[in-house]
Amino acid sequence: MNVYDSDRMQAILNAKGFRSEAELRKADVILINTCSIRDKSEQKVLSLLGELKGLKQKDPKKVIAVSGCVGQRMGRTLLQRVPHLDLVLGPDAIDRVGDLIENVVNRGERLVEAKFDEDGRSYSQPCVVNRAKPSEFLTIMKGCDHFCTYCIVPFVRGREKSRSVDEIITDVKNLVSKGTKEVTFLGQNINTYGKGTGQKLSQLIEAANEVEGLERIRYVTSHPRDLGEDLINQFGSISKLCPALHLPFQAGSDRILKAMSRLYTQELYLKKVELLRKACPDIALSTDVIVGFPGETEKDFEETLKVLANVKFSSAFMFKYSPRPGTKAADFGDEVPEIVKEERLARAQQVVYSQIEKENLKYRNTVVSVLVESMDKKKKFFSGRTPHSKLVHVMNVGDASVGKIIDVEITDTNVSCLKGFYVGAPKTNIQFNSFERGIESSFSASLSPTLH
Ligand code: 5AD
Ligand code: SF4
Repeated sequence: MNVYDSDRMQAILNAKGFRSEAELRKADVILINTCSIRDKSEQKVLSLLGELKGLKQKDPKKVIAVSGCVGQRMGRTLLQRVPHLDLVLGPDAIDRVGDLIENVVNRGERLVEAKFDEDGRSYSQPCVVNRAKPSEFLTIMKGCDHFCTYCIVPFVRGREKSRSVDEIITDVKNLVSKGTKEVTFLGQNINTYGKGTGQKLSQLIEAANEVEGLERIRYVTSHPRDLGEDLINQFGSISKLCPALHLPFQAGSDRILKAMSRLYTQELYLKKVELLRKACPDIALSTDVIVGFPGETEKDFEETLKVLANVKFSSAFMFKYSPRPGTKAADFGDEVPEIVKEERLARAQQVVYSQIEKENLKYRNTVVSVLVESMDKKKKFFSGRTPHSKLVHVMNVGDASVGKIIDVEITDTNVSCLKGFYVGAPKTNIQFNSFERGIESSFSASLSPTLH
C-alpha cells in the first residue's frame, strides 16, 4: 500500500511541476513515506531524519516532509521532536501533498495534517498515474474495522471505507489503456470490500474479469474469517484471477489467536485452505506469521510450525512481535524474550524456506507463463512473475519487451526465484553466477522477491 501511496504522491507532485531527483543533496524537497507496522520501521525513519539534519542546516530552504503512518501516529510530536522537519502528513492527506508542500514553501510555515477524512461511508480517489507499469497496484478501500490486538493499522489508517465498483473499473481501464496487464487490488482487509455500500469484492472481480486487455487480477490482503465461499469459488471459475492468495494466519495456537483477537481457530483456517485447494488445486498460498506474541509458549509456537508444515506455503512473511503504542497487546505484559523470538523466527523460516526450495525444484524443465516486468538496461536479462507469483529471471531476451506475457522454460531454481530461457528465442550461454551478479546490479528494487 505504501508503494501505491508513494507512486500516487509522485504523480501528484509531477503534475504540479516537481520532478524526481536521484541525489538527496540536490533535492529541494525530501518526502519520506513511512510505515509504522513495527517499531523497527519507525526507528529507521527517525534515524534517516537525523541524517538529514546536516543537509537542512546547509540549505535551510530545503523542505523535509514525512508522510504516511508514522506521520499519522506521531503528528505534532514528530514536528516537535525533529526541529528540522517542515511537514507531517498522514495517509488521508496524501491527495493534498502538493498543496501542503507549496504552503510550506510559500508561507515558510511548519505544518501537520493528520486528521482522518471521516465524511461519508465511501471515499473517492481516482487513480492519477501518468505512466502505467505492466503490473500495477490499485487501492480499492482504506482502513480496517478489525482490531487485532497487536496491530496499529486501525489507529493510523482509520475505519474501513470503500470506493465504488464503477470508479475502480474506470481506473482499471485507464491503466490498461496505458499498458497495464496485471492489477493487484489493495485493501487492509479486502474481503469486506464494499461493506455498507451493498457492493462485494466478488462483484468487483467479476467486473474486472470483463475488462478487455487486462490479463491478470490479484488482491491483497485477505482475512481468514472474512474470505467467503463466493471468493473461494472464484479461484476455480474466474479466468483472469491468478491462482495465488495471500492469507495470513499469524499464529497456529488457538489460545494465541484468541489473544490476538483474530476471530478464527486453526481448524477454521485449515478448512479455508482445504476449500481453496478444492476450488483450485494448484493455488499458491502465501501468509504472514508473528512469532513471540506476548505469552506465546513453546507449545503454542509448535502449533505455528504445525500449520506451516501442513499448508506448505509458496511464500511467507515472518515477523517477531513488536509492541505498538496504543494497541491492546502492548499492555498484555508477559513479553517473550528477544532471544526466544529470534530463535523461533529462525525455526519458522527454516521450515518455510526448505519447503519453498523443494516446491521450486518441481518447476525445473517445465514451461511457465511470465509477465515481463523489468529489463536490464543493456537488454540482456529480464524478470517477471508467473500467475502463481513466482519471480522468474530470464537470460535470453529475443523479442521480449516489458509488458509482454511469454513462455519461459525453467532450467534452474533456488529458494527465491526460478531461472530459465524464453521459449523460441535464441539461447545464450551465460553462467548463472554472472547472470545473478548482472541481475543484482541491473534491476531496480521493484522486483525484489517479496511483495509486501
Ligand atoms: N508486530 C509484528 N508483526 C506485526 N504485523 C502487524 N502488526 C505487527 C506487530 N505489532 C504483521 C502481521 C501483518 C503484517 C502486515 O505485519 O503479520 O499481517
Ligand atoms: Fe491489522 Fe490486518 Fe488485523 Fe486489520 S485485519 S487489525 S490490518 S492485522
